[in-house]
Order: sequence, then structure tokens, then C-alpha cells
Amino acid sequence: MRKIVDKLLIQRRWHCEKHDTPIIAIAEVKRFIFDCMRALNTPDDYSQQMAEILAEADYKGHFSHGMNRLAMYVGEVEKKTCNNKATPKILKEFGGTAWVDGNNALGVVVGNFCNKLAIEKAKIHGISCVSTKGSNHFGICSKYSDDAVNQGFIQITCSNTSPLAVPTRAKNSFFGTNPFCLGAPAQDGDNFLLDMATTTVAVGKIELAVRKNIQIPNTWALDEVGRPETNPEKAVQTPRLSPLGGSEIMGGYKGSGLMMMVEVLSGILSGSMYGPHIQRFGKMTEPANLGHCFIVINPECFAPGFRSRLSKILKELRTSQPIDPKKTVKAAGDPEREHKLAVDRAGGVRYVKNQMDTCEMLAKKLNVKPLGTVLKSGC
Ligand SMILES: NC(=O)c1ccc[n+]([C@@H]2O[C@H](COP(=O)([O-])OP(=O)(O)OC[C@H]3O[C@@H](n4cnc5c(N)ncnc54)[C@H](O)[C@@H]3O)[C@@H](O)[C@H]2O)c1
Repeated sequence: MRKIVDKLLIQRRWHCEKHDTPIIAIAEVKRFIFDCMRALNTPDDYSQQMAEILAEADYKGHFSHGMNRLAMYVGEVEKKTCNNKATPKILKEFGGTAWVDGNNALGVVVGNFCNKLAIEKAKIHGISCVSTKGSNHFGICSKYSDDAVNQGFIQITCSNTSPLAVPTRAKNSFFGTNPFCLGAPAQDGDNFLLDMATTTVAVGKIELAVRKNIQIPNTWALDEVGRPETNPEKAVQTPRLSPLGGSEIMGGYKGSGLMMMVEVLSGILSGSMYGPHIQRFGKMTEPANLGHCFIVINPECFAPGFRSRLSKILKELRTSQPIDPKKTVKAAGDPEREHKLAVDRAGGVRYVKNQMDTCEMLAKKLNVKPLGTVLKSGC
């Protein structure tokens, strides 16, 4: 078990492992994604938005939601279950709120449209909430939070997704991995950024185990009779991911509650599909009609000194006495920050062979320049 966990944690260190795959500069990652989307006649602005969010996920070390997702998005556009040229539209506006129809546009296009609107509304009203239906898978939540946090706002993003997870005591999947993110700005560019699936892990982490041909820990997914499922292919095919916390005795019902919380804000509020009514993950036979929610709060409307208090508590947290002196206490967002620095030092990211093969296949299929290389020594 320990070995499996260590192997999976290595996904955050791919860029400097001894591999037979090359290091790819982030600019090249973006170029490749942009070209693939453009080859599908996606408008340049939208291709760029896709390139930015997927490259950012890999840059942060969330390889589950970067290049790993490109083939799925390409498939959705090719099968016309997602409209890569569509633009979202506002259905209803009142003060700091807006209800949006994503019009089945690319998830990132809907996400950026709504988040930008929420930020503009928070500038006027101090607080805003934008809810959208008619969307598709929108990538990592923290990209949206980053955009608001960088402008001085507290930001919450969440989304529902295809049913993949079993609520406590249930036999079959009902909720998605329903991600949730809260970002808040501290001083000198520091911040708190909790960005998480409400399952024990995002399904993408199980897909990565498939790519790496390794087993998953026995706490991530269950089989049809409720035993731990350690075969990643089975865990993706008949998905019964564990809610955050795991079993009932471990507080898994709180994870189930968080999945429902995200569903209330994303699906129920927006009128999108919800819970078990969303199409199966990877099915791609009809528009997904996902829902997202973006909440932006201006801390300047409340007690003065928000940033300095946040900086102080972050410092106190990070300097808490660790149980293992080799492992310092981190705040949410720190692992991603550290990964970005490591990628900068290495000159890029390194994908596993299976991912490189997928990119090669995409390059051939879409007739775009293959994913190039920037080689660096010292890793
Ligand atoms: N769009 C979708 O449908 C969808 C669905 C699921 C997940 N996601 C995305 O997938 C990504 C991965 O999600 P995940 O739940 O697997 O992430 P994760 O478990 O790797 O990290 C979750 C959070 O915990 C923090 N963290 C990690 N290790 C820590 C430590 N030792 N101490 C303190 N904090 C720590 C991270 O900074 C992060 O904020 C997220 O960006 C999420 O938005 C998207």
C-alpha cells in the first residue's frame, strides 16, 4: 500500500524523474493544445483558453486535468456533443447575480465567461454569484479562482460532473467527483487555494494509474459489493469512487454531504442536469449540460486587514511543528506552487510514455505538428 501511494505521489515529480520521455516546455504544451483545438475549427480565442487551462493544470502538477483531458475534449467536439464555436449567454441578471446558459460551449469558455462576469459584478456590488447550466467539463477549478484572487477577491468555484462516486451506504455511483475551490489573497502574492474533488481523489488520478499501469490504493474506489477496488481500469469503467473520507466510520458521509453541497450550488441552482441524471463519464452521446457556480467576494467590504491576517495564519500554519521533521506542514495551494517552481527549474514538464503516445495519436489524427521537446540536463 505504501509503495502504491508513493508511486502515485510521484506524479507531482514527473518533470524530474528519470524517464525515457523528454521534458516539454510549458509554451510547447500550450502550442500543441492550441493547434489541436484549432484543427477542429475552434476560434483562436477559445483554443487559447483551452491551452491555458490544460497547461496550467500540468504546470501545477495536476496531470489528471491537463494534457490527460485533451483527447476527451477533442472527442466531444468531433462527436458534436459539445459546440466549440458557441458563446454563453446571460439569461437573467439581478444586482450581483446572473444566471447563464453555457449554450453547450467548451467548458473553459463557459467558465471564463461566468467568472469574468462574477468578478465585474463583485467590483460593483461587493459580492456576486453566477450560476450556469448548459456547460461541459471545465478543467481545474483553481484557474478561475486564481483569476479572481489575483485581482484581490475571495473566490469560490464548483461544478457537478458525471456520476462517478457512491454516497455513503449506496451501492452505485450517484454524484460526480464534484470539485470545489476556495481561493483567498494574502500579502505579497501569497494566497490560500483549496482546490479539490469531493471524492477521495479525482477520477483523473485513477486514469493516470491506468496510464502508468499500476494499482490504486484500496481507499479510492469500491467494487460492486463494497470491497476496495485496486484495479484502476475497473475503477474507471464501473465507477464507484469513495466520497472524501472513505467509509462511514472514517466520516465519508461528510464527503457525500460535500458532493451534495456542490450539486445544490451547481446543478440545482442552475437548472442543469444533476446527480445520477448526468450522462456517464466518457459516454459522449449527448450534450453533458453540466452546471457550475462562481461566487466572488470583495474582502475590502469587511474588516480591514484581511490580507495581513491571512498571511499571518498561513505563516503560523506552515511553521506548525511537523510530526516528521522532513515533511513541513503545508497550506492548500503550496504543493501546486512548489510544483510550478520545480517545473520552472526543470524547464518544463515530463509526461509518461502512455500520455506521449496519446499526443502522437492526436497529432496524426488532427494533422498538427507533434508535441516537441525542450531537453534539459540536471534532472
Ligand atoms: N472539472 C471537473 O469535473 C473536476 C473534477 C474533479 C477534480 N477536478 C480538478 O482536479 C484537480 C485535482 O483534484 P484533487 O482533489 O485530486 O486534488 P489534490 O487531492 O491533489 O489536492 C487537493 C487540495 O489539497 C491541497 N493539498 C495537497 N496536499 C496537501 C498537503 N500535504 N497539505 C495541505 N494541503 C494539501 C492542494 O493544494 C489542493 O488544494 C483539482 O484542480 C480539481 O479542480 C476537476
